[in-house]
Amino acid sequence: AEDKREFPKDFLWGGAVAAHQLEGGYQDGGKGLSIADLFTLGDKDHPRTITKKIEADQYYPNHKAIDFYHRYPEDIKLFAEMGFKCFRTSIAWSRIFPNGDEAEPNEEGLKFYDDLFDECLKYDIQPVVTLSHFEIPLHLVQEYGGWRDRKLIKFFVHFADVCFKRYHNKVKYWMTFNEINNQTDFEAAGHLYTDSGIVPEEGEDNEKLMYQAAHYELVASAQAVKLGHQLDPDLQIGSMIAMCPIYPLTSKPEDILFAQRAMQTRYWFSDVHANGFYPQWLLNFFEKKNFKLDITTADLAQLKEGTVDYIGFSYYMSFTVKYTGHEDYNEAHDLVPNPYVKASEWGWQIDPTGLRYALNWFTDRYHLPLFVVENGLGAVDQLTEDHKVHDDYRIKYMHDHILQMKRAVLDDGVDLMGYTPWGCIDLVSAGTGEMSKRYGFIYVDEDDHGNGSLDRYRKDSFYWFKNVIETNGAEL
Ligand code: BG6
Repeated sequence: AEDKREFPKDFLWGGAVAAHQLEGGYQDGGKGLSIADLFTLGDKDHPRTITKKIEADQYYPNHKAIDFYHRYPEDIKLFAEMGFKCFRTSIAWSRIFPNGDEAEPNEEGLKFYDDLFDECLKYDIQPVVTLSHFEIPLHLVQEYGGWRDRKLIKFFVHFADVCFKRYHNKVKYWMTFNEINNQTDFEAAGHLYTDSGIVPEEGEDNEKLMYQAAHYELVASAQAVKLGHQLDPDLQIGSMIAMCPIYPLTSKPEDILFAQRAMQTRYWFSDVHANGFYPQWLLNFFEKKNFKLDITTADLAQLKEGTVDYIGFSYYMSFTVKYTGHEDYNEAHDLVPNPYVKASEWGWQIDPTGLRYALNWFTDRYHLPLFVVENGLGAVDQLTEDHKVHDDYRIKYMHDHILQMKRAVLDDGVDLMGYTPWGCIDLVSAGTGEMSKRYGFIYVDEDDHGNGSLDRYRKDSFYWFKNVIETNGAEL
Protein backbone atom coordinates (compact mmCIF):
# COMPACT_ATOMS: atom_id res chain seq x y z
CA ALA A 1 0.00 0.00 0.00
CA GLU A 2 1.08 3.55 -0.64
CA ASP A 3 2.89 5.34 2.20
CA LYS A 4 0.43 8.03 3.33
CA ARG A 5 2.60 9.68 5.94
CA GLU A 6 3.24 13.41 5.76
CA PHE A 7 6.52 15.27 5.82
CA PRO A 8 7.34 17.32 8.93
CA LYS A 9 5.45 20.59 9.09
CA ASP A 10 7.50 23.57 7.84
CA PHE A 11 9.05 21.33 5.21
CA LEU A 12 10.20 23.65 2.42
CA TRP A 13 8.59 22.45 -0.81
CA GLY A 14 9.58 24.52 -3.81
CA GLY A 15 11.55 24.64 -7.01
CA ALA A 16 15.03 25.62 -8.17
CA VAL A 17 16.58 27.59 -11.01
CA ALA A 18 19.74 29.60 -11.69
CA ALA A 19 19.87 33.17 -12.98
CA HIS A 20 21.80 32.57 -16.18
CA GLN A 21 19.57 29.66 -17.22
CA LEU A 22 16.31 31.58 -17.14
CA GLU A 23 16.68 35.33 -16.76
CA GLY A 24 17.90 36.39 -20.20
CA GLY A 25 18.20 40.18 -20.38
CA TYR A 26 21.92 39.53 -20.53
CA GLN A 27 22.77 43.19 -21.03
CA ASP A 28 19.82 44.78 -19.27
CA GLY A 29 19.99 46.83 -16.10
CA GLY A 30 23.72 47.40 -16.45
CA LYS A 31 24.61 43.71 -16.31
CA GLY A 32 28.14 42.77 -17.38
CA LEU A 33 28.91 39.65 -19.38
CA SER A 34 29.32 36.42 -17.46
CA ILE A 35 31.00 33.20 -18.50
CA ALA A 36 27.56 31.79 -19.34
CA ASP A 37 27.18 34.45 -22.06
CA LEU A 38 30.00 32.89 -24.09
CA PHE A 39 28.72 29.35 -23.90
CA THR A 40 27.26 28.13 -27.22
CA LEU A 41 24.53 25.57 -27.88
CA GLY A 42 25.52 21.91 -27.69
CA ASP A 43 23.68 18.62 -27.32
CA LYS A 44 24.27 15.31 -25.63
CA ASP A 45 26.88 14.24 -28.19
CA HIS A 46 28.47 17.65 -28.77
CA PRO A 47 29.72 19.68 -25.81
CA ARG A 48 28.97 23.39 -25.71
CA THR A 49 31.93 25.45 -26.88
CA ILE A 50 33.41 28.45 -25.12
CA THR A 51 34.10 31.33 -27.50
CA LYS A 52 36.54 34.12 -26.68
CA LYS A 53 34.08 36.85 -27.62
CA ILE A 54 30.51 36.91 -28.85
CA GLU A 55 30.54 35.63 -32.43
CA ALA A 56 27.83 36.80 -34.84
CA ASP A 57 27.28 33.33 -36.33
CA GLN A 58 26.89 31.49 -33.01
CA TYR A 59 23.78 31.02 -30.91
CA TYR A 60 24.12 31.70 -27.17
CA PRO A 61 21.02 30.30 -25.44
CA ASN A 62 21.59 32.14 -22.14
CA HIS A 63 21.31 35.59 -23.70
CA LYS A 64 17.55 35.40 -23.90
CA ALA A 65 16.90 32.20 -21.94
CA ILE A 66 13.18 32.22 -21.03
CA ASP A 67 13.10 35.99 -20.42
CA PHE A 68 12.35 35.59 -16.72
CA TYR A 69 14.02 38.98 -16.21
CA HIS A 70 10.92 40.61 -17.71
CA ARG A 71 8.29 37.99 -16.95
CA TYR A 72 9.02 36.92 -13.39
CA PRO A 73 5.77 38.21 -11.83
CA GLU A 74 3.78 35.86 -14.07
CA ASP A 75 6.11 32.94 -13.24
CA ILE A 76 6.17 33.52 -9.48
CA LYS A 77 2.39 33.62 -9.60
CA LEU A 78 2.39 30.14 -11.14
CA PHE A 79 4.78 28.91 -8.41
CA ALA A 80 2.41 30.34 -5.83
CA GLU A 81 -0.47 28.51 -7.50
CA MET A 82 1.46 25.25 -6.99
CA GLY A 83 1.83 26.20 -3.33
CA PHE A 84 5.62 26.71 -3.24
CA LYS A 85 6.97 27.50 0.22
CA CYS A 86 10.35 28.46 -1.20
CA PHE A 87 12.04 29.30 -4.46
CA ARG A 88 15.71 28.70 -5.10
CA THR A 89 17.46 30.98 -7.57
CA SER A 90 20.89 32.58 -7.87
CA ILE A 91 22.01 36.17 -7.99
CA ALA A 92 23.80 36.85 -11.27
CA TRP A 93 27.12 38.16 -9.94
CA SER A 94 27.59 40.36 -13.06
CA ARG A 95 24.29 42.17 -12.43
CA ILE A 96 25.69 43.36 -9.09
CA PHE A 97 29.33 43.73 -10.14
CA PRO A 98 29.40 43.91 -13.95
CA ASN A 99 33.15 43.33 -14.03
CA GLY A 100 33.45 41.57 -10.70
CA ASP A 101 36.27 43.74 -9.34
CA GLU A 102 34.53 47.08 -8.80
CA ALA A 103 34.41 48.70 -5.37
CA GLU A 104 30.78 49.81 -5.73
CA PRO A 105 27.86 47.60 -6.75
CA ASN A 106 25.44 48.35 -9.59
CA GLU A 107 22.26 49.69 -7.98
CA GLU A 108 20.02 48.65 -10.86
CA GLY A 109 21.10 45.05 -10.44
CA LEU A 110 20.51 45.14 -6.69
CA LYS A 111 17.08 46.64 -7.29
CA PHE A 112 16.11 43.81 -9.65
CA TYR A 113 16.63 41.20 -6.91
CA ASP A 114 14.85 43.37 -4.35
CA ASP A 115 11.83 43.35 -6.60
CA LEU A 116 12.12 39.64 -7.34
CA PHE A 117 12.40 38.69 -3.64
CA ASP A 118 9.49 41.01 -2.76
CA GLU A 119 7.40 39.31 -5.40
CA CYS A 120 8.17 35.92 -3.79
CA LEU A 121 7.49 37.15 -0.26
CA LYS A 122 4.15 38.55 -1.39
CA TYR A 123 3.04 34.90 -1.67
CA ASP A 124 4.99 33.72 1.42
CA ILE A 125 7.55 32.06 -0.78
CA GLN A 126 10.98 32.08 0.92
CA PRO A 127 13.83 32.87 -1.47
CA VAL A 128 16.75 30.43 -1.27
CA VAL A 129 19.78 32.00 -2.91
CA THR A 130 22.95 30.62 -4.46
CA LEU A 131 25.69 33.23 -4.71
CA SER A 132 27.76 31.67 -7.48
CA HIS A 133 26.00 29.39 -9.92
CA PHE A 134 28.16 28.93 -13.05
CA GLU A 135 28.00 32.68 -13.86
CA ILE A 136 31.31 34.29 -12.88
CA PRO A 137 31.75 37.77 -14.40
CA LEU A 138 33.66 37.35 -17.66
CA HIS A 139 36.09 40.12 -16.81
CA LEU A 140 37.37 38.08 -13.85
CA VAL A 141 38.23 35.31 -16.28
CA GLN A 142 39.86 37.53 -18.89
CA GLU A 143 41.79 39.68 -16.44
CA TYR A 144 42.66 37.22 -13.67
CA GLY A 145 42.21 33.76 -15.20
CA GLY A 146 39.21 33.05 -12.97
CA TRP A 147 39.80 31.15 -9.74
CA ARG A 148 43.47 30.56 -10.59
CA ASP A 149 43.99 33.88 -8.87
CA ARG A 150 43.78 34.32 -5.10
CA LYS A 151 42.31 37.80 -5.68
CA LEU A 152 39.03 36.14 -6.59
CA ILE A 153 38.54 35.39 -2.88
CA LYS A 154 38.39 39.10 -2.14
CA PHE A 155 36.03 39.84 -5.04
CA PHE A 156 33.66 37.03 -4.14
CA VAL A 157 33.57 37.88 -0.46
CA HIS A 158 32.83 41.51 -1.29
CA PHE A 159 29.97 40.37 -3.53
CA ALA A 160 28.65 38.06 -0.79
CA ASP A 161 28.91 40.82 1.79
CA VAL A 162 26.97 43.28 -0.38
CA CYS A 163 24.23 40.67 -0.97
CA PHE A 164 23.95 39.67 2.70
CA LYS A 165 23.71 43.30 3.79
CA ARG A 166 21.16 44.21 1.19
CA TYR A 167 18.90 41.15 1.42
CA HIS A 168 19.31 39.56 4.84
CA ASN A 169 15.83 40.72 5.87
CA LYS A 170 14.33 39.05 2.81
CA VAL A 171 16.54 36.00 2.35
CA LYS A 172 17.36 33.61 5.16
CA TYR A 173 18.68 30.61 3.18
CA TRP A 174 21.92 30.93 1.20
CA MET A 175 24.43 28.73 -0.56
CA THR A 176 27.93 29.79 -1.63
CA PHE A 177 29.09 27.81 -4.71
CA ASN A 178 26.78 25.70 -6.82
CA GLU A 179 28.00 22.12 -7.33
CA ILE A 180 31.51 23.09 -6.32
CA ASN A 181 32.56 19.46 -6.77
CA ASN A 182 31.63 19.06 -10.46
CA GLN A 183 35.24 19.91 -11.19
CA THR A 184 36.28 16.59 -9.68
CA ASP A 185 35.94 15.70 -13.36
CA PHE A 186 38.80 18.10 -14.14
CA GLU A 187 39.40 16.71 -17.62
CA ALA A 188 36.03 18.03 -18.79
CA ALA A 189 36.56 21.60 -20.04
CA GLY A 190 32.97 22.49 -19.20
CA HIS A 191 33.31 21.78 -15.47
CA LEU A 192 36.52 23.74 -14.90
CA TYR A 193 34.90 26.61 -16.79
CA THR A 194 31.53 26.64 -15.05
CA ASP A 195 32.86 26.01 -11.53
CA SER A 196 36.04 28.06 -11.67
CA GLY A 197 36.15 30.13 -14.86
CA ILE A 198 39.29 28.30 -15.90
CA VAL A 199 40.21 27.57 -19.49
CA PRO A 200 43.40 25.47 -19.26
CA GLU A 201 46.27 26.23 -21.59
CA GLU A 202 48.28 23.66 -23.54
CA GLY A 203 50.45 21.63 -21.23
CA GLU A 204 48.82 22.74 -17.99
CA ASP A 205 47.91 20.18 -15.35
CA ASN A 206 44.11 20.45 -15.04
CA GLU A 207 44.10 18.41 -11.86
CA LYS A 208 46.43 20.77 -10.05
CA LEU A 209 44.56 23.80 -11.39
CA MET A 210 41.36 22.32 -10.03
CA TYR A 211 42.67 21.70 -6.52
CA GLN A 212 44.13 25.20 -6.29
CA ALA A 213 40.93 26.87 -7.54
CA ALA A 214 38.76 24.74 -5.25
CA HIS A 215 40.93 25.70 -2.29
CA TYR A 216 40.44 29.41 -2.99
CA GLU A 217 36.70 28.84 -3.40
CA LEU A 218 36.48 27.00 -0.10
CA VAL A 219 38.36 29.79 1.66
CA ALA A 220 36.06 32.36 0.01
CA SER A 221 33.05 30.31 1.08
CA ALA A 222 34.27 30.11 4.68
CA GLN A 223 34.94 33.86 4.82
CA ALA A 224 31.46 34.54 3.44
CA VAL A 225 29.83 32.22 5.98
CA LYS A 226 31.64 33.96 8.81
CA LEU A 227 30.68 37.43 7.59
CA GLY A 228 27.07 36.41 7.03
CA HIS A 229 26.78 35.06 10.57
CA GLN A 230 28.36 38.18 12.05
CA LEU A 231 25.87 40.34 10.22
CA ASP A 232 22.81 38.24 11.04
CA PRO A 233 23.00 35.09 13.16
CA ASP A 234 19.68 33.95 11.69
CA LEU A 235 21.15 33.40 8.25
CA GLN A 236 21.46 29.77 7.21
CA ILE A 237 24.39 29.43 4.86
CA GLY A 238 25.05 26.10 3.21
CA SER A 239 27.28 24.35 0.74
CA MET A 240 25.99 23.05 -2.57
CA ILE A 241 27.30 19.68 -3.62
CA ALA A 242 26.50 17.56 -6.67
CA MET A 243 25.75 14.24 -5.01
CA CYS A 244 26.12 11.16 -7.18
CA PRO A 245 26.79 8.26 -4.81
CA ILE A 246 29.54 6.03 -6.20
CA TYR A 247 28.92 2.31 -5.83
CA PRO A 248 31.38 -0.55 -6.29
CA LEU A 249 30.44 -2.73 -9.25
CA THR A 250 30.97 -5.91 -7.20
CA SER A 251 31.66 -6.97 -3.62
CA LYS A 252 35.28 -7.67 -4.49
CA PRO A 253 37.28 -5.93 -1.74
CA GLU A 254 39.36 -4.00 -4.30
CA ASP A 255 36.15 -2.60 -5.83
CA ILE A 256 34.86 -1.60 -2.39
CA LEU A 257 38.09 0.19 -1.51
CA PHE A 258 38.20 1.91 -4.86
CA ALA A 259 34.59 3.10 -4.51
CA GLN A 260 35.49 4.48 -1.10
CA ARG A 261 38.40 6.44 -2.56
CA ALA A 262 36.11 7.66 -5.34
CA MET A 263 33.64 8.96 -2.73
CA GLN A 264 36.46 10.63 -0.80
CA THR A 265 37.68 12.25 -4.01
CA ARG A 266 34.26 13.55 -5.02
CA TYR A 267 33.19 14.71 -1.54
CA TRP A 268 36.27 16.16 0.15
CA PHE A 269 34.78 19.52 -0.78
CA SER A 270 31.89 19.03 1.62
CA ASP A 271 34.33 17.62 4.21
CA VAL A 272 36.09 20.99 4.19
CA HIS A 273 32.82 22.96 4.12
CA ALA A 274 31.37 21.03 7.05
CA ASN A 275 34.39 20.03 9.13
CA GLY A 276 36.59 23.04 8.46
CA PHE A 277 39.72 21.07 7.65
CA TYR A 278 41.26 18.96 4.91
CA PRO A 279 41.02 15.18 5.15
CA GLN A 280 44.48 13.69 5.72
CA TRP A 281 44.32 11.32 2.75
CA LEU A 282 44.04 14.36 0.47
CA LEU A 283 47.02 16.15 2.03
CA ASN A 284 49.00 12.94 1.49
CA PHE A 285 47.74 12.82 -2.08
CA PHE A 286 48.98 16.39 -2.73
CA GLU A 287 52.40 15.31 -1.48
CA LYS A 288 52.45 12.19 -3.57
CA LYS A 289 51.57 14.27 -6.65
CA ASN A 290 54.10 16.90 -5.66
CA PHE A 291 51.44 19.61 -5.98
CA LYS A 292 52.82 22.67 -4.27
CA LEU A 293 49.53 24.40 -3.59
CA ASP A 294 49.09 27.88 -2.19
CA ILE A 295 47.40 26.93 1.09
CA THR A 296 48.41 29.23 3.92
CA THR A 297 48.06 28.85 7.69
CA ALA A 298 45.71 31.84 7.64
CA ASP A 299 43.55 29.99 5.09
CA LEU A 300 43.41 26.92 7.29
CA ALA A 301 42.30 29.02 10.26
CA GLN A 302 39.58 30.64 8.15
CA LEU A 303 38.27 27.28 6.96
CA LYS A 304 37.66 26.38 10.59
CA GLU A 305 35.83 29.63 11.33
CA GLY A 306 33.38 29.45 8.45
CA THR A 307 31.82 26.00 8.49
CA VAL A 308 28.41 25.68 6.86
CA ASP A 309 25.02 25.45 8.57
CA TYR A 310 23.62 22.82 6.26
CA ILE A 311 24.47 20.70 3.25
CA GLY A 312 22.51 21.65 0.15
CA PHE A 313 22.89 19.14 -2.62
CA SER A 314 21.59 18.15 -6.03
CA TYR A 315 20.66 14.58 -6.75
CA TYR A 316 20.01 13.25 -10.24
CA MET A 317 21.83 9.93 -10.51
CA SER A 318 24.33 7.49 -9.07
CA PHE A 319 27.68 6.30 -10.42
CA THR A 320 29.45 2.94 -10.34
CA VAL A 321 33.17 2.12 -10.44
CA LYS A 322 35.34 -0.93 -10.91
CA TYR A 323 38.92 -1.28 -9.75
CA THR A 324 41.30 -1.45 -12.71
CA GLY A 325 44.67 -1.47 -10.99
CA HIS A 326 45.26 2.18 -10.10
CA GLU A 327 44.55 3.64 -6.70
CA ASP A 328 43.45 7.19 -7.57
CA TYR A 329 39.98 7.90 -8.90
CA ASN A 330 39.68 9.76 -12.20
CA GLU A 331 36.08 10.56 -12.97
CA ALA A 332 36.70 10.89 -16.69
CA HIS A 333 37.82 7.25 -16.98
CA ASP A 334 36.69 5.17 -14.03
CA LEU A 335 32.89 5.11 -14.29
CA VAL A 336 31.15 1.98 -15.55
CA PRO A 337 27.43 1.42 -16.24
CA ASN A 338 25.36 0.04 -13.39
CA PRO A 339 23.53 -3.04 -14.69
CA TYR A 340 20.72 -2.57 -12.16
CA VAL A 341 19.49 0.89 -13.12
CA LYS A 342 18.17 2.52 -16.29
CA ALA A 343 19.42 5.79 -17.72
CA SER A 344 17.56 8.86 -18.99
CA GLU A 345 17.66 9.91 -22.65
CA TRP A 346 20.73 11.94 -21.75
CA GLY A 347 22.44 8.95 -20.15
CA TRP A 348 21.87 9.90 -16.51
CA GLN A 349 21.34 6.75 -14.41
CA ILE A 350 18.01 6.99 -12.61
CA ASP A 351 18.25 5.66 -9.05
CA PRO A 352 15.70 6.79 -6.44
CA THR A 353 17.10 4.42 -3.81
CA GLY A 354 20.42 6.22 -4.17
CA LEU A 355 18.76 9.35 -2.81
CA ARG A 356 17.89 7.63 0.46
CA TYR A 357 21.42 6.24 0.55
CA ALA A 358 22.85 9.73 -0.03
CA LEU A 359 20.70 11.31 2.68
CA ASN A 360 21.90 8.73 5.19
CA TRP A 361 25.50 9.00 4.04
CA PHE A 362 25.59 12.78 4.47
CA THR A 363 23.90 12.51 7.86
CA ASP A 364 26.37 9.95 9.17
CA ARG A 365 29.30 11.97 7.88
CA TYR A 366 28.37 15.51 8.93
CA HIS A 367 25.40 15.40 11.32
CA LEU A 368 24.01 18.55 9.72
CA PRO A 369 20.62 19.45 8.30
CA LEU A 370 20.31 18.61 4.61
CA PHE A 371 18.45 20.30 1.79
CA VAL A 372 17.73 18.61 -1.55
CA VAL A 373 18.05 21.70 -3.72
CA GLU A 374 17.90 19.97 -7.11
CA ASN A 375 16.40 16.77 -8.45
CA GLY A 376 14.49 15.96 -11.60
CA LEU A 377 14.26 14.35 -14.97
CA GLY A 378 15.48 16.10 -18.11
CA ALA A 379 13.21 14.82 -20.86
CA VAL A 380 11.68 15.73 -24.22
CA ASP A 381 8.09 16.90 -23.78
CA GLN A 382 5.30 17.11 -26.37
CA LEU A 383 2.96 20.07 -26.20
CA THR A 384 -0.44 18.90 -27.47
CA GLU A 385 -2.68 21.04 -29.67
CA ASP A 386 -4.76 22.02 -26.66
CA HIS A 387 -1.60 23.11 -24.82
CA LYS A 388 -1.18 20.20 -22.45
CA VAL A 389 1.89 18.13 -21.60
CA HIS A 390 1.24 14.57 -20.43
CA ASP A 391 4.49 14.02 -18.55
CA ASP A 392 3.71 10.87 -16.60
CA TYR A 393 7.43 9.87 -16.89
CA ARG A 394 8.38 12.98 -14.89
CA ILE A 395 5.67 12.33 -12.31
CA LYS A 396 6.96 8.77 -11.88
CA TYR A 397 10.56 9.97 -11.45
CA MET A 398 9.58 12.50 -8.81
CA HIS A 399 7.17 10.17 -7.06
CA ASP A 400 9.89 7.55 -6.66
CA HIS A 401 12.43 10.05 -5.37
CA ILE A 402 10.07 11.75 -2.92
CA LEU A 403 9.08 8.35 -1.54
CA GLN A 404 12.73 7.54 -0.79
CA MET A 405 13.14 10.97 0.80
CA LYS A 406 10.11 10.28 2.95
CA ARG A 407 11.64 7.03 4.20
CA ALA A 408 14.95 8.74 4.92
CA VAL A 409 13.17 11.41 6.96
CA LEU A 410 10.46 9.42 8.72
CA ASP A 411 12.17 6.04 9.13
CA ASP A 412 15.85 6.93 9.26
CA GLY A 413 15.52 10.27 11.07
CA VAL A 414 17.37 12.37 8.53
CA ASP A 415 17.04 16.10 9.22
CA LEU A 416 15.83 17.38 5.84
CA MET A 417 14.91 21.05 5.41
CA GLY A 418 13.19 20.87 2.07
CA TYR A 419 13.01 19.82 -1.53
CA THR A 420 13.35 22.08 -4.55
CA PRO A 421 13.16 20.13 -7.81
CA TRP A 422 15.34 21.50 -10.59
CA GLY A 423 14.02 23.69 -13.38
CA CYS A 424 10.53 24.01 -11.94
CA ILE A 425 9.89 26.05 -15.07
CA ASP A 426 11.59 24.88 -18.29
CA LEU A 427 14.92 26.63 -18.79
CA VAL A 428 18.22 26.40 -20.66
CA SER A 429 20.17 23.24 -19.84
CA ALA A 430 23.50 23.98 -18.17
CA GLY A 431 25.19 20.95 -19.67
CA THR A 432 24.01 21.21 -23.27
CA GLY A 433 22.39 24.64 -23.68
CA GLU A 434 19.26 22.96 -24.99
CA MET A 435 15.69 23.99 -24.20
CA SER A 436 14.48 20.54 -25.26
CA LYS A 437 16.04 18.91 -22.17
CA ARG A 438 13.12 19.97 -20.03
CA TYR A 439 12.64 19.59 -16.27
CA GLY A 440 9.70 21.88 -15.55
CA PHE A 441 6.20 21.65 -14.17
CA ILE A 442 5.63 24.64 -16.44
CA TYR A 443 6.22 24.30 -20.16
CA VAL A 444 7.86 27.22 -21.96
CA ASP A 445 7.19 27.51 -25.67
CA GLU A 446 10.72 27.90 -27.00
CA ASP A 447 12.99 25.62 -29.01
CA ASP A 448 16.74 25.02 -28.86
CA HIS A 449 17.41 27.94 -31.19
CA GLY A 450 15.28 30.44 -29.33
CA ASN A 451 12.19 30.27 -31.57
CA GLY A 452 8.76 30.24 -29.93
CA SER A 453 6.20 32.46 -28.24
CA LEU A 454 7.71 32.02 -24.73
CA ASP A 455 4.17 31.37 -23.51
CA ARG A 456 3.90 29.29 -20.33
CA TYR A 457 1.65 26.19 -19.97
CA ARG A 458 0.91 23.96 -16.98
CA LYS A 459 2.03 20.35 -17.49
CA ASP A 460 0.27 17.37 -15.85
CA SER A 461 3.10 17.34 -13.31
CA PHE A 462 2.10 20.88 -12.28
CA TYR A 463 -1.22 19.63 -10.86
CA TRP A 464 0.44 16.55 -9.41
CA PHE A 465 3.10 18.52 -7.52
CA LYS A 466 0.51 21.04 -6.34
CA ASN A 467 -1.31 18.17 -4.68
CA VAL A 468 1.90 16.76 -3.18
CA ILE A 469 2.54 20.12 -1.53
CA GLU A 470 -1.09 20.54 -0.46
CA THR A 471 -1.05 17.15 1.29
CA ASN A 472 2.50 17.72 2.60
CA GLY A 473 3.65 14.61 0.82
CA ALA A 474 0.88 12.29 2.05
CA GLU A 475 -0.37 11.86 -1.52
CA LEU A 476 2.37 11.19 -4.02
C1 BG6 B 1 23.04 20.88 -12.10
C2 BG6 B 1 23.14 22.36 -12.10
O1 BG6 B 1 24.22 20.41 -12.68
O2 BG6 B 1 22.09 20.21 -12.82
C3 BG6 B 1 22.10 23.05 -12.94
O3 BG6 B 1 23.25 22.93 -10.84
C4 BG6 B 1 21.76 22.19 -14.13
O4 BG6 B 1 22.58 24.32 -13.28
C5 BG6 B 1 21.15 20.89 -13.63
O5 BG6 B 1 20.91 22.80 -15.05
C6 BG6 B 1 20.71 19.95 -14.71
O6 BG6 B 1 21.72 19.75 -15.64
P1 BG6 B 1 21.47 19.98 -17.18
O7 BG6 B 1 22.80 19.80 -17.81
O8 BG6 B 1 20.48 18.95 -17.58
O9 BG6 B 1 20.93 21.35 -17.32
